[in-house]
Amino acid sequence: MKTTKKIGIFNNKGGVAKTTSIINLAYAFSKNGKRTLVVDCDNQENCFSFFFSDQSGNGILDTEYEGIKHTTWQRYTSLDVATCNNDFDYILFDLPPALSDDVKLIIKHVDTVYVPTMLGEFEIQGLKKVTDEINNQGTKLGGIFVTMYQAKNDKELIEQFREVLQNRLMNSVIPYSTTVRESQKAGLPIEAYFIERNVPPIGTAWKIVNAYNSLADEILREVEA
Ligand SMILES: Nc1ncnc2c1ncn2[C@@H]1O[C@H](COP(=O)(O)OP(=O)(O)OP(=O)(O)O)[C@@H](O)[C@H]1O
Ligand SMILES: [Mg+2]
Repeated sequence: MKTTKKIGIFNNKGGVAKTTSIINLAYAFSKNGKRTLVVDCDNQENCFSFFFSDQSGNGILDTEYEGIKHTTWQRYTSLDVATCNNDFDYILFDLPPALSDDVKLIIKHVDTVYVPTMLGEFEIQGLKKVTDEINNQGTKLGGIFVTMYQAKNDKELIEQFREVLQNRLMNSVIPYSTTVRESQKAGLPIEAYFIERNVPPIGTAWKIVNAYNSLADEILREVEA
């Protein structure tokens, strides 16, 4: 029987684009024909409010995107494994910024964790705790990727990061883009937002879409190797 791949996106630090990455990766995965379940593990339920405008729901919910469904960790735990394996190729877990017992349990449950980070001294310091915890739970660290990268400030820092993290730092780098907030306000993944607004797929605006597509490719390549 085919087994669903379970991927957590986690960093103990808040506001580093965990949820943004889940949403845009789910979109990229579904474009690649991967049936994807997004699991909100954060009580904020940001994925739920992103995908649905009404404030109620039960079980596994269809989003408006073919190939993307949604549930919460609580509801997920009552699903049987066979259902998940039959219905989904990938399950993406959006974790809260905490190292609670629940979070540790979820880290243990998934196959691989990817860690988004911004660039900075505190971020480098915090990463050790995160990667140690992933290791303690016996889970694979898929890689660390930089988000909200701003070339004018971050060029040197990313080199320092690479020296420290070596091949744990992924090649894909997600740039800072004001479109992220606009697209979230409109309730759309960034690429869907550009398509809806007829933004031609050239120029700097699309950099962030290309970056998320490249991150999705990197993850799919690694997980399916
Ligand atoms: N590449 C980006 N460029 C600009 N803004 C971004 C980018 N990625 C995320 N943001 C913004 O940063 C904020 C935090 O993002 P997000 O909610 O995805 O982080 P998070 O790690 O899930 O936060 P939390 O720890 O609270 O769960 C949001 O307002 C989001 O719109
Ligand atoms: Mg979040």
